[in-house]
Amino acid sequence: MEIKEFSSTTAKKQLMLLADFGRQLTGETDFDKLLSVIATQISKIIGVKRCFIFIKDDKNKEFWSKIARGKGLKHTEIHLPLNGDSIAAFVGRTGNTVNIQNANENTTFSRALDRITGFKTNSVLAIPLINKEGNIIGVFQLSNKKNNKAFDGNDEGLLKLLASLAGTNIEIAALYNEVQLANLETIYRLAITAEYRDQYDTKAHLQHISEICHKLAKDLNFNDGDADIIKNASMLHDIGKVAISDSILLKPGKLTEDEYNRMKMHAIYGGKILESAKSKILKIAYKMSLYHHEKYDGSGYPFALSGVHIPIEARILSVADVFDALCMHRVYKRPWSEQKAYEYIVDHSGSDFDPEVVQAFKRIFDDVKKMYYVKIKK
Ligand SMILES: [Fe+2]
Ligand SMILES: [Fe+2]
Repeated sequence: MEIKEFSSTTAKKQLMLLADFGRQLTGETDFDKLLSVIATQISKIIGVKRCFIFIKDDKNKEFWSKIARGKGLKHTEIHLPLNGDSIAAFVGRTGNTVNIQNANENTTFSRALDRITGFKTNSVLAIPLINKEGNIIGVFQLSNKKNNKAFDGNDEGLLKLLASLAGTNIEIAALYNEVQLANLETIYRLAITAEYRDQYDTKAHLQHISEICHKLAKDLNFNDGDADIIKNASMLHDIGKVAISDSILLKPGKLTEDEYNRMKMHAIYGGKILESAKSKILKIAYKMSLYHHEKYDGSGYPFALSGVHIPIEARILSVADVFDALCMHRVYKRPWSEQKAYEYIVDHSGSDFDPEVVQAFKRIFDDVKKMYYVKIKK
């Protein structure tokens, strides 16, 4: 880029956007959010109508793009074969930059992407996304500058700079994403193990309570990250059931007092399994597991805690867990309608449940109902 270019107002603006670009990327480990930030920022800095970030997936032999900016774009995920004739595939294979000034006059230009997106490409700038080991991990592909001019050397230089800034972040986020997925999968499978014996529809129960917990946490103003943790940690709330015998867990009739006391121990066992956890998600799961049968008025178990002495995560889970348990079939009862279960929750506000969480539940109930409607319609 020429020095005199930088002295112009536009170039100064670009420099500020560039600094902002670096700032926004720092610390963003959520893969989807990171790609979204990068695509938005690149569109802004270079001034383009469309920005695709293609990620190379060697296992599935394809480039995929989740983020596609621009009006009228219906597809949010695009898959292109590694060995296809798309621009992304060519750039990804060869490492060359592609700058097509006029797509209509270019006989080699493939309209494969346009056919998927319904967008008419006039000009294209595509460069490889290279990690610090020198391997191609993706492709940045821009279409149609906002001023309708062709892409020039400045745009190319700028895009290469942005790609080098973004490359490491994308790679770290991708690795983080994979570790995160592996963690969540382990948690999910552990949770299924715990709930498997006494429930007909374990997966549905876990899905329902985790979704309801997530909606409640969002409504109660937890930030996205913490709401996600509450959502995923909630699945382990009954992990302590692994230590309860079948004769109690699967008994169709009413439990004797002794059996009920032994059943109540699942909260303590869950706490023991998860105590001293190091990760944030398991620390929250510990609280949910140990305290999810406490009641707001202090009449619950195992410690008869009341009010704010019960961790908020457990107060949230308690509403979600009881509501879904009422709506589901159990060995000892038939499923209730969502409306009847909702009324139960509202009626027990202040006694069993935190009134603030019940208020949040009232606000999200229309959304919650849809979840059950979908289940029945399937
Ligand atoms: Fe429980
Ligand atoms: Fe449960």
